[in-house]
Amino acid sequence: MRYQGREVDIEGRVRLVMESALTARDRVGVQDFVLLENYNSEAAFIENLRRRFRENLIYTYIGSVLVSVNPYKELEIYSKQQMERYRGVSFYEISPHIYALSDNTYRAMRTERKDQCILISGESGAGKTEASKKILLYYAVTCPTNDHMAILGDRLLQSNPVLEAFGNAKTLRNDNSSRFGKYMDVQFDFRGTPVGGHILNYLLEKSRVVHQNHGERNFHIFYQLLDGGDDDLLITLDLERNPQNYRYLVKGNCPRVSSISDKNNWKVVMKALPVIDPDIKSCEGQNCPISITGCSDMHKHSQNSITENRCVVVLQLLGVDGSALREALTHKKLTAKGEEMISPLNYEQAVSARDALAKAVYGRTFTWLVEKINQSLHWKDSTKFPFSKDSSVIGLLDIYGFEVLQQNSFEQFCINYCNEKLQQLFIELTLRSEQEEYETEGIAWETVQYFDNKIICDLIEEKHKGIISILDEECLRPGETCDVSFLEKLEDTVGSHPHFITHKLANGKTRRVVSREEFRLLHYAGEVNYNVNGFLDKNNDLLNRNLKEVMCQSDNQILSHCFRREEVIDQKRPEMAATQFKNSLMKLMEILMSKEPSYVRCIKPNDAKQPGRFDEVLVRHQVKYLGLMENLRVRRAGFAYRRRFEAFLQRYKPLCPETWPNWHGRLVDGVSTLVNHLGYKAEEYKLGRSKIFIRFPKTLFTTEDALEAKKPEIGNELCYTNFGMFSLAEYKIFLGVNVCTCVFRCVVIVIQSGWRGMKARRRAKRRRQAAELIRRFIKGFIYRHEEYCPENEYFLDHVRYSFLKNLRQNLPKSVLDKSWPTPPPSLVEASEHLRRLHMRNMVIKYCRRVQPEWKKQMMQKVVASEIFKDQKDSYPLSVGRLFLDSRLEREQINLKVIQTLGSDKVQYGVSVIKYDRRGFKPRPRQLLLTNTFAVLVDRTKIKQRIDYAALRGISVGSLSDGMFVLHMPTEDNKQKGDAVLHCSHVIEVVTKLAMMANKTSYVNINPGSIRFTVARGKEGIIDFIRGSELKVAKGKRGHLLVVSQRLF
Ligand SMILES: Nc1ncnc2c1ncn2[C@@H]1O[C@H](COP(=O)(O)OP(=O)(O)OP(=O)(O)O)[C@@H](O)[C@H]1O
Ligand SMILES: [Mg+2]
Repeated sequence: MRYQGREVDIEGRVRLVMESALTARDRVGVQDFVLLENYNSEAAFIENLRRRFRENLIYTYIGSVLVSVNPYKELEIYSKQQMERYRGVSFYEISPHIYALSDNTYRAMRTERKDQCILISGESGAGKTEASKKILLYYAVTCPTNDHMAILGDRLLQSNPVLEAFGNAKTLRNDNSSRFGKYMDVQFDFRGTPVGGHILNYLLEKSRVVHQNHGERNFHIFYQLLDGGDDDLLITLDLERNPQNYRYLVKGNCPRVSSISDKNNWKVVMKALPVIDPDIKSCEGQNCPISITGCSDMHKHSQNSITENRCVVVLQLLGVDGSALREALTHKKLTAKGEEMISPLNYEQAVSARDALAKAVYGRTFTWLVEKINQSLHWKDSTKFPFSKDSSVIGLLDIYGFEVLQQNSFEQFCINYCNEKLQQLFIELTLRSEQEEYETEGIAWETVQYFDNKIICDLIEEKHKGIISILDEECLRPGETCDVSFLEKLEDTVGSHPHFITHKLANGKTRRVVSREEFRLLHYAGEVNYNVNGFLDKNNDLLNRNLKEVMCQSDNQILSHCFRREEVIDQKRPEMAATQFKNSLMKLMEILMSKEPSYVRCIKPNDAKQPGRFDEVLVRHQVKYLGLMENLRVRRAGFAYRRRFEAFLQRYKPLCPETWPNWHGRLVDGVSTLVNHLGYKAEEYKLGRSKIFIRFPKTLFTTEDALEAKKPEIGNELCYTNFGMFSLAEYKIFLGVNVCTCVFRCVVIVIQSGWRGMKARRRAKRRRQAAELIRRFIKGFIYRHEEYCPENEYFLDHVRYSFLKNLRQNLPKSVLDKSWPTPPPSLVEASEHLRRLHMRNMVIKYCRRVQPEWKKQMMQKVVASEIFKDQKDSYPLSVGRLFLDSRLEREQINLKVIQTLGSDKVQYGVSVIKYDRRGFKPRPRQLLLTNTFAVLVDRTKIKQRIDYAALRGISVGSLSDGMFVLHMPTEDNKQKGDAVLHCSHVIEVVTKLAMMANKTSYVNINPGSIRFTVARGKEGIIDFIRGSELKVAKGKRGHLLVVSQRLF
């Protein structure tokens, strides 16, 4: 079989004829750059783009890569009819479209059963997000579905406006710029129905929450809430409509944008939230934007004038204690040499603590939102689908584009690094792998040179030597570090790298454009100057510990999920932001490498976001750095189409009598016989080791056309011969083909009956197995009390297995949880062992997590419990209160006293009331504990020294009062007698004193009264009674009467 009009013998003429024929299929220019006559000319490339763009033909192929130019206007090419046009149609047979690429990817996933991914790249504003939405919509509309799956499709689509509201913002380059990276997996079952999804998010640009460049905005959700939220909601949140009142929202000086309707978008988000998760709106969902906005609301107006009411609302939203938050925002907690110190923050530090809190709240809530969406997209009832393991995925990557701003900081560094990695992947998967494939297949090949950006990736990410490692090192290094020292370190370490320049390293001309605080990277996409200011802080991304502790206590459902207690307890330092980002990118690369990629390369035609404007300089720059010319050259110098021998033969064998219906020889000979029969010329194809390579698309089209024409004939043949002779694969050829109805029906009936028979056999087999299972189960149940025997082995094994499985899912989660499932009789002993083992494990884990200061706290609490539990009324109240290291600040202790004590350091101090032994006159004193003695201090004077060695005992009443008596030796003339003291922290003081003196067994709890020595030989008595309020006064008979409050 030969196609007409191709009687040309030299390669050039073949191409010419072919190209002009194909060009006729296009309306304007060429729809595949591979067909461009002057394929080495950048000007011709751009001219082709321009011509097509002018006619609203925004899509063009380079082989299988789709180039898309942002039209900046709505085109009538995304309707349902258009989707139908592209459904199931071969890639090259119809004009290029994002739907063609989506459909091709979908079919490749189904026929080859291999996971696919679509990588969408291009600079900010080039149309990546729009492209990804169109792909998703195409799948939602065209894939087979049912009611249940329609809900999922809805969720997939509705996740977009929600994520965009929280993660997108207006920038100078794009009114809806994605400020986070997104990779979404759509999961399909064996029928090709979308059944689940999963989103991975990458590095949200949190700094935008507190600062925006001129002409830019904060994340959309803030403005949407103010503009679209109804009056009641705003009143509840104590918010005003005007964004000008909120400093966080007007840093960029443009709270309103004409192209954006915040009001409508708010409605869209509010409609989308319940679709994603019905609960999300009613409870947590609403709180989410609110608590975030609440956070920014705190900083409304000027620094000082935040009203009490607003304060209350914000605190309610954050669900934290007001005084604790105030303290944490204005003080810093440091631990030096095991001691905790609190120091006040100056104004600038407090401002940055506030900003850090706002960023952390927003960033973590965003991650929570993604988790929530993932839960709703999760394929929950996989059991309903018997072939669940046959599911495949299509991944969609829409990640921030390459970005060069007036001032570029840490965020741009990460964004551009990410783009370097994606370019690397593109090189790996298209340029390098294509050339390698020719080599492995033994095809003669002329190497095409291209710029490999690995050198820049290494400069950024190399272990120990790369910029990220140096940044981490500088953040962790002890001593004085700052952004400038980081820059100097960079100059020392990577100063000689050809892609790295700083002011100091540059020559005269470049020096003028790189300031002293900047370093310049020569990216594959262009040069970018990064200002190092803020690099260290952003990389540290640390929220001070006080704030973390406060937020951990939050009783807001979402925030308590976002700020985990373990984070405060865990002493391991979290990974730095850049390293976290690097690692997540590595994982992303692994994910993408494991899939079959398709590419959409987006181009931005102008910077003014205007329709119809094609800025040649801008486009040329993008064509260059996206490597489109190299891509074309590799494609063009090579072959447009390649297929494994078996796939090619399987598809086209009906076209040759020798290969139809079956070829029994070597595959390569079969393919060779087939192409000879088809009349392929030598320059049109090459046979590799396992694949056939066809140089021009036209050759393939003609072969496809021939197959199309042949189908009715073969259909008849099949219909009137014995169907059993052919494999199902042969019939498959006819699916979706317009053959005569009779033939088609015949084939369909055969396929149907075969398929139904197979399904019925499968069902019967499953029923038989089920009946057998039930029989064994019942028998086992009857014999369950017998010894283990063939009759009951299945049942007993099942009971054991079920117990263990149930146990695995219901293991106690904390040491306090004493629940344990009841074991079957045969597992009682094993269960007991497991229970003990598990408990021991939990205890070990718990102990490992306990920090030194908590350990100390716990030891003191244990001693307190030994002394006071069930002995003193006020003990239960003290259990939940922490024992402090000291109740007196260092400044509260007189310097003279400290000097007098000399080398004996005060370990603990507390204010007490001392009662005179005779008249019981109360006198305020400080009780200071050192390692070997305690002293009672009256302002500057040490009034009494109590050596621990001499201490005879400590007496405490059993009621809820704070009285305690320190008994001194009576025979010691120097001692003034026993000390009668009162302190509101009596449990803490007595525990600490007893522990320091190593005299815990000397503490006596006296129920009715305490006797004490006034002076040598003489005795005093304290009587304790219960009353309505605490009172200490001289009572009858010269006793000291202490009235304690009833507590319960
Ligand atoms: N196919 C299209 N049809 C109509 N308008 C489009 C199309 N693609 C992009 N646009 C317009 O361009 C704008 C920017 O596109 P998009 O948000 O997809 O850019 P992006 O590449 O994702 O940028 P960023 O990296 O900043 O997120 C869109 O808001 C839309 O107005
Ligand atoms: Mg985007």
